[in-house]
Amino acid sequence: MTKLDSFVAAQGDRMLDELKQLLRIPSVSTSPDHAGDCRRAAEWVADHLRALGCPSVELVASETHPVVVADGPRVPGKPTVLVYGHYDVQPPEPLELWDSPPYEPTIRNGNLYARGATDDKGQFFAVVKAFEAVMRSGKPPVNVRFLIEGQEESGSDILFGLLEKRPELVEADVAIVADTQYWAPGWPAIEVGLRGICYGEITVRTAKGDLHSGLYGGVAPNAHDTLVRILAKLKSSSGRINIPGLYEAVKRPAKVERDAWKKLPFNERRFMREEVGAKALTGLSRYSVFERLWGLPTFEIHGIVGGFTAHGAKTVIPAEATAKVSLRLVPNQRVKTVERLLKRAVKDLAPPYADVSVTFIHGADPVLVSIDHPAFGVIDEAFREVEGRGVVFTRSGGSIPVVPVLGKRGAAVMMAGLGLPDDRLHAPNEKLGVDQFLKGVRVFGRFLTALGR
Ligand code: BES
Ligand code: MN
Ligand code: MN
Repeated sequence: MTKLDSFVAAQGDRMLDELKQLLRIPSVSTSPDHAGDCRRAAEWVADHLRALGCPSVELVASETHPVVVADGPRVPGKPTVLVYGHYDVQPPEPLELWDSPPYEPTIRNGNLYARGATDDKGQFFAVVKAFEAVMRSGKPPVNVRFLIEGQEESGSDILFGLLEKRPELVEADVAIVADTQYWAPGWPAIEVGLRGICYGEITVRTAKGDLHSGLYGGVAPNAHDTLVRILAKLKSSSGRINIPGLYEAVKRPAKVERDAWKKLPFNERRFMREEVGAKALTGLSRYSVFERLWGLPTFEIHGIVGGFTAHGAKTVIPAEATAKVSLRLVPNQRVKTVERLLKRAVKDLAPPYADVSVTFIHGADPVLVSIDHPAFGVIDEAFREVEGRGVVFTRSGGSIPVVPVLGKRGAAVMMAGLGLPDDRLHAPNEKLGVDQFLKGVRVFGRFLTALGR
């Protein structure tokens, strides 16, 4: 056992107690009702980093969802590590499906249950605790800058604005993003790609107001009927998205990368039954599941608003209907272009009698990172020591909007997460394995120390 390991063994419970404090703050960024909680979470993180010995800690760019920018002590001649994370979380609803309340962090069977446990409070806090561990002698082995934002779950506009004004904030040798996942228990992963996203709303209006479905049914246009016909045309049952031009920019993963994916331990049937919990997998079946998840765009309908959905029956022809939709984007596609293509496709599919509009809500560009920086060998070795296995290289179908910008000034972007595939992020009973957290502190502690050599 190294000194680092015995420190973590001795201090692990205290570290978890601190994490629980942060998890008790309901910092949901997608709802203005929680602006005060987001501010409180930012202050908690800032106070914590100050107490750990960061000589410079700022809350910047917003009153309600500030970015925490904190620098560790300067160590001249040593590399700089940028630590990215987000203190905001997704809404916890439906509450009745949680076995313990989302903001009362609870440990059961070796897992810490709470909203934000894995996404992302528990993960970035593991890096914070690794920093604490290597700071014990007073001087860290490398320069560390924390960049912890509070708006990742709603598009990161504030952080984008900040980095436009102060691009030097991402000047670093390595940027650690601990907001992703292991491949499987015991299989740490470096994610080399993320999909992007283009999220919006399609609204259809077909009449001045709602109408009696008996008196007018048969002649009056129905907004929901019109909307679902448009939606149905946007994607065929084979999984092909019918947005002209959408696939033009798509850059297929190289054969070597696809071949490497074939070597990942994976049981498609079990994935379908247990992880997805479904009787079939959909999408373009001539592509592998991995290529469908990581290398191809998607079109999803998240919900349809309007009309009558209350208990019982109401005979009405709705005059307005709105669908929340998003596309996931893959390397080489751009949010701006896809937004334009979606708007045009919807317009072209709309019947002349309907007023149809598309409103953009938020977006993120996809990203692919290069792994030829020596830091990737260092993290691989750290995982090897702690986990008994080095990293596998995967991608993720999820999005982290700021990641493409983190590498703009030359930093090697290292997406090394601690989550497990069954962590249920964004869903009820989100959790983080206590051992995943503690192993993470040891891995990142080793990483920071070794990078300083
Ligand atoms: N941390 C996730 C994304 C993620 C999860 C990446 C697992 C890789 C592995 C992030 O917090 C997230 O949920 N992002 C949102 C994007 C956003 C703009 C709403 C997403 O992907 O839906
Ligand atoms: Mn996240
Ligand atoms: Mn998330």
